[in-house]
This record gives sequence, C-alpha cells and structure tokens, in this order.
Amino acid sequence: MRRACDTGPQLNREIDMRVGFIGLGSMGLPMAQNLLAAGHELVVYNRTRSRADGLARSGARVAESPGEAAAGVEVLLTMLADDAAVEDVIFGENGALPALARGAIHVGMSTTSPALARRLAAAHAAEGQSYVAAPVFGRPEMAKAAKLWIVAAGAPEVLERCGPVFAPMGQGVEAVGAEPSSANVVKIAGNFLLAAAIEAMGEAFALVRKHAIEPARFLEIVNGRLLRSPIYESYGALIAAERFEPAGFKLKHGLKDVGLALEAGGEMAAPLPLASLMRDHFLSAIAWGWADIDWAALAKVSAVNAGLAR
Ligand SMILES: NC(=O)c1ccc[n+]([C@@H]2O[C@H](COP(=O)([O-])OP(=O)(O)OC[C@H]3O[C@@H](n4cnc5c(N)ncnc54)[C@H](OP(=O)(O)O)[C@@H]3O)[C@@H](O)[C@H]2O)c1
Repeated sequence: MRRACDTGPQLNREIDMRVGFIGLGSMGLPMAQNLLAAGHELVVYNRTRSRADGLARSGARVAESPGEAAAGVEVLLTMLADDAAVEDVIFGENGALPALARGAIHVGMSTTSPALARRLAAAHAAEGQSYVAAPVFGRPEMAKAAKLWIVAAGAPEVLERCGPVFAPMGQGVEAVGAEPSSANVVKIAGNFLLAAAIEAMGEAFALVRKHAIEPARFLEIVNGRLLRSPIYESYGALIAAERFEPAGFKLKHGLKDVGLALEAGGEMAAPLPLASLMRDHFLSAIAWGWADIDWAALAKVSAVNAGLAR
C-alpha cells in the first residue's frame, strides 16, 4: 500500500516504476529501501558496492556502474555527497547521462549547487531527458521513517510523473517552480537557517556552561518558553548532552552547505556575513578532526573558544 504524500491532486501514487538509485549513503540507503518496499523495480549503484548488499537481498538489482543503473529506467534518483560526486556519476566514465533513455527523468536529491542544477537541466534536455531537483529536509531517521520533506522544482508535467517515487520517501512535497535550481536555493537557504541555529546555540550553551548553569535546564527554558521548535529541541538536546556520534548529518557536509550558500549569494550579490563566520567555524571544527561527526558539533567550536574542554 503506497503512503500518502502531499504532492498535489494530479499525482498518481499507485504506479510501480522502473527506478534507478545512485548513492547509498546515510540518506540514500533508507530512501532506496522505502522505494523497494513500495513495490518499485529498483536497480541501485553505489561506489562502495558492499553498501548495496542488503538491498540486493531484498530484491534490488545491483549495477556495476552509474550507466548500468541508468539504463532502461523511467526515473533515475541520485543521492550523493556533493557536486563533484554528482558530476562523476552523471558525466564521468560509464556515467548515467548517455545511458539514460530519451524521455526518462533524472531526479537529483542531493544538496548541490544551483549552478550544477542549471548544467544538469541543459545536459539532460540535450539528450531528450528531463531534470528535476528534489533535495530533502530530514535526517537519516526521518528518511527511514519515510518522513522527509521534499522540495521539488521542474516542469509541472515532469514533477507529476515523479509522484509515485516521492510518495514512499516523504511526508510531503513542496513544489517551488519550473526551474530546477530554485529547489536547490530553497534547500541551501534552509540549511543556512539550521546551521545558524546550531551556531547560536553553541555560543549560548558555552555562555551558560561558563556560568555553571546546567545546559539541559537552559534548553528546557529556551525550547519551552522562548523559541519552541523541533530544531531547538532536537539539536539542542544533542548539544546539551554533547552527543555528536553517530553522525546523522556529517559536519563536513555542513561545511559544504554553508559554502553553497556563500556561492549562491555571491552569484547574486547577496551577502551572507553570518555564513562567512560559520564557514570559518566549520573549518576550525574540521581542523580539530570533527569532519565525520554530527554537524551539531559546530557548537563545540564556541565551547573550545570559551576555554571549555574539547
Ligand atoms: N544526512 C543528512 O541528515 C542529510 C539530510 C538532508 C540532505 N542531505 C544531503 O544528502 C546528500 C547525501 O548525504 P548523506 O548523509 O547520505 O552522505 P553520506 O552518508 O556521506 O553518503 C554520500 C554518498 O555519496 C557517495 N559518493 C561520494 N563521493 C562520490 C563520488 N565521487 N562518486 C560516487 N559516489 C560518491 C558515497 O559513496 P561511498 O559509499 O562509496 O562513499 C555515498 O553513497 C548530501 O548532499 C547531503 O548534504 C543529508
């Protein structure tokens, strides 16, 4: 039984499709599992092949190259680390672009740059294919629970055809226009807000800790009375408990996203002074060796700057 997904009245959610999925990281693996469980015919590719083993046991076909994952599918989904990874699998050796059929759709779900979305849209159009950008909000546990929020942009009739693949992965789809790059801008701006909340909490928690106030008690007051939000609650709890492992969203990807915000701001002369500051704090965190722990560890930079133990 297909999950409901608020993708608009025109979307047919009951069609099983031939779907290719590239990128089985923390997010991609549970997303692919949900597509398979929903009845889609799935072919998967991951650079590190062993991450596909569980899906193979559940009935997915494992491709040996991105091109093989793209051949013969109606929709190809990519959920990869960054621009370079997407460029490798789409334009690289044995890449997906020449293998994808005319009329097929590539749905890019990674958090990548608007500039790459424009390049992908043009390259796919030249091959008679379509490109949709559909980055997501939600961490791996939300991906597993099929509770992602999908921000999608592309031609309306193409978005409509994506309904059956969006439905098993998300609790809703926010369509933001016909230009795929718009979805990336919304995602990048959203992550900028999340990072800013973590940065602000990091500084505030360092302050209260220096004054011997219990971080958990402070969070109770802030989230209960002042700024109630799921973000303050969830990230606040991680920061108060200094619990940064296992990583839901790796800190190095946070650096990537704040860089994407600065790049997108640079394109349009939209200064983001707070993003510049956060970029330096992310770099400090990487220098401390925290690249692969949760990005909530951005808060540790303020703690260390305040002389609190690492
Ligand atoms: N985690 C979150 O909470 C979250 C939430 C929303 C959006 N996102 C975004 O979703 C995307 C994936 O995030 P994630 O947390 O799943 O990352 P991840 O666990 O680090 O996984 C990254 C994936 O990209 C692949 N990859 C990296 N470089 C590659 C290359 N050059 N060629 C081919 N494959 C390559 C990796 O393959 P290997 O297995 O071989 O390394 C892996 O499948 C990112 O853009 C991230 O910003 C993440």
